[in-house]
Amino acid sequence: MRLYSVSGSAARQRTDCAIVGLYESGSLSTAAAQVDAALGGRLTRLVKRGDLRGKTGETSMLDVEAGPVSRVLVVGLGKKDGFKRKQYKKALQVAVAAVAKSGARDAVSYLSQEPVGDTDAYYRGRLAAEAVGQALYRVPAIRSSRKPPEPPLKSFAVAVAERDQKKDAERGLEHGRGIAAGASLTRDLANLPANVCTPSHLAKTARELAREYRSVRTQVVDEPELRRLKMGSFLSVTAGTDEPAKLIVMRYQGAGKQAPVVLVGKGVTFDSGGISLKQPVGMDEMKFDMTGAASVFGCIKAAAEIGLPLNLVGLVPACENMPSGRATKPGDIVRSMSGQTIEVINTDAEGRLILCDALTYARRFKPAVVVDIATLTGACVIALGAHLSAVMSNDDELAAEIEEAGRRAEDRAWHMPMAEEYHEQLKSNFADFTNSCGRDGGAITAACFLAKFTDGMRWAHVDIAGTAYLTGTHKGSTGRPVPLLMDFLLNRR
Ligand code: BES
Ligand code: MN
Ligand code: ZN
Repeated sequence: MRLYSVSGSAARQRTDCAIVGLYESGSLSTAAAQVDAALGGRLTRLVKRGDLRGKTGETSMLDVEAGPVSRVLVVGLGKKDGFKRKQYKKALQVAVAAVAKSGARDAVSYLSQEPVGDTDAYYRGRLAAEAVGQALYRVPAIRSSRKPPEPPLKSFAVAVAERDQKKDAERGLEHGRGIAAGASLTRDLANLPANVCTPSHLAKTARELAREYRSVRTQVVDEPELRRLKMGSFLSVTAGTDEPAKLIVMRYQGAGKQAPVVLVGKGVTFDSGGISLKQPVGMDEMKFDMTGAASVFGCIKAAAEIGLPLNLVGLVPACENMPSGRATKPGDIVRSMSGQTIEVINTDAEGRLILCDALTYARRFKPAVVVDIATLTGACVIALGAHLSAVMSNDDELAAEIEEAGRRAEDRAWHMPMAEEYHEQLKSNFADFTNSCGRDGGAITAACFLAKFTDGMRWAHVDIAGTAYLTGTHKGSTGRPVPLLMDFLLNRR
């Protein structure tokens, strides 16, 4: 996809499809008014007749053949004073989906010329490129029928109001393209079924990233080495499966000698619950339990595409959580790499058991910051639903930085407390602490468990159990929180 910026009147720019906005009040966007004039007031008439209403998410494609413009796509923008970055990103997604259904080979979006509350040309470009990637994404098909044809759309432009905004817009487009490429990788990996996307498949993907980008190096730690490293907690989760576990280390080098940011992603390629077996309803969705890992892959790819001026380490403990005669049993006590012992009350609280050893491993990189990303708790979905991710941290400033990044990237997160009282729930009569302590404050107590492995490190935990994937008819990975993480990384210092 070619992404670029243009300036000037919508009536004069040559394109297969001009994307213009209409507000709910019936008022035309600047570009819509220019097109309307060139069409002798056709849009105004359609508004008067009630054919165009400007409701958020509504689109109508008009075949116009007016001078240089072949089609006009009118996109409903809702209320004028409510048109913020969220509505902007959504409007673009809807618009691109509509354009992709047409025969248009190129399109120019004029939505970026509207006053979008609290954005600048850079973010308008970036959010546009992210929306293009989001809308054109197709699930890797494993079907016997022939693939549907690709949409002919090959180039996409955003219009800027002033010529001098072109440079910022194009930088935004470039970053947005990289973020979209990363998020697409995340979605591909997460959408794959667990019989294809095994820990070995993730390891292979990491090696491919290293082959594709000179800035990326990959190392895969196998089970014999995990035993030498004394990762007893991680190994206890993989005990019941025949699939070999892997600790995947990806290093992206974008700066000289500088402490890296370490991203740790939960890579449970299937979470059956183990001996604490889950209910059958919805268990298929536990193939998405490696989305934290997939988002780390997405960030490494995005960083390499963009040339992010930072050092980054992606750490992915990958395994399956399965029941068998060799599986870990409720009540078993395991010793983590840190030396701390854990009573495994519930084998379904496995994410924290693999993350804790990965967090201990992260120390060797002397990180500036460690962020772990995980579909960690059902309790997080109860607390925040499918809209916002949860952030917990041993550093309030870091949590605020992540919240801010979520706001700017329109991939939001919410800071939840980690007060001392919650830690008490993890007490065990037999080991240093337990891995599970019931339903109350479940997202927070899970974070408190992880916190026991982060002494002396600046650390944040992002629980994406609600935001990682959609359920129901639109079941599938969302690519979140790659936009949030990349915004966080792009805005460091
Ligand atoms: N992978 C699940 C969490 C999850 C639930 C993700 C729903 C996405 C949607 C995790 O491993 C898990 O099973 N957590 C348990 C923890 C409990 C046993 C303390 C949970 O949330 O029920
Ligand atoms: Mn589980
Ligand atoms: Zn899980």
